[in-house]
Amino acid sequence: MRYLVAANWKMNKTVAETLEYLEIFLPKVEDINVVDIMIAPSFTALASASLKLEHSNVKLGAQNMYYMDKGAFTGEISPLMLTELEVDYVIIGHSERRHIFGEKDDLINKKMISAVEHGIRPILCVGETLEERELGKTLNVVERQIRTGLAGIEKDLIYIDIAYEPVWAIGTGVNATPQQAQEVHRFIRSLLNEISKGNDEKTRILYGGSVNDKNAKELIKEPNVDGFLVGTASLDPNKFFNIITEVLEV
Ligand code: PGA
Repeated sequence: MRYLVAANWKMNKTVAETLEYLEIFLPKVEDINVVDIMIAPSFTALASASLKLEHSNVKLGAQNMYYMDKGAFTGEISPLMLTELEVDYVIIGHSERRHIFGEKDDLINKKMISAVEHGIRPILCVGETLEERELGKTLNVVERQIRTGLAGIEKDLIYIDIAYEPVWAIGTGVNATPQQAQEVHRFIRSLLNEISKGNDEKTRILYGGSVNDKNAKELIKEPNVDGFLVGTASLDPNKFFNIITEVLEV
């Protein structure tokens, strides 16, 4: 399986800053062809980033999208707007979308279906809060998020990636230990296998939550960790490159 190392820049970097980053980053990774690399900049930087990435080995991602093609949905971005810019990936159901903006499983499911229909590879984000973990509900929460997120597209799992991102680990500097990640990743792999009837061999299970160039090496060694979704550490081209290097060495 080809690993994926993905950057989620969240609400950071202007167009100028995006281009500045790519000037530094692209030459560093131009010879890397054994792992997939993706960057999800802000919506306003997508068009410029798309031109810049056109002849590169770095894929372009969006951080969100609405599921309808067009219409009266003030402030939303449609899949057609993303495919026009040759966006390859879209992050769906990120915990900040779920917890700050109130996205529910059924909306996330509609977005997942729409992304697959439009040929944009969705990364479905799942993960428990600290409270849910302390109550022993981690696997139940993850199972619910995955079953509802993938409802109706179980046969399309080869076009989908999953990111396990425990909410308590996102942006906190406290990553899940390799053992904690592995426990959930193993569970997700068997769940995917069951719901896709074995058709999940191309579905990567990424880990996200305070991944940096210090902890990446240990996390990626775990058998069911197939890459990373990186927030904070991806904002620095050198740190992001170092994380990719750790993945290459596995
Ligand atoms: P973080 O963010 O690396 O800053 O924890 C990860 C994410 O939210 O995808």
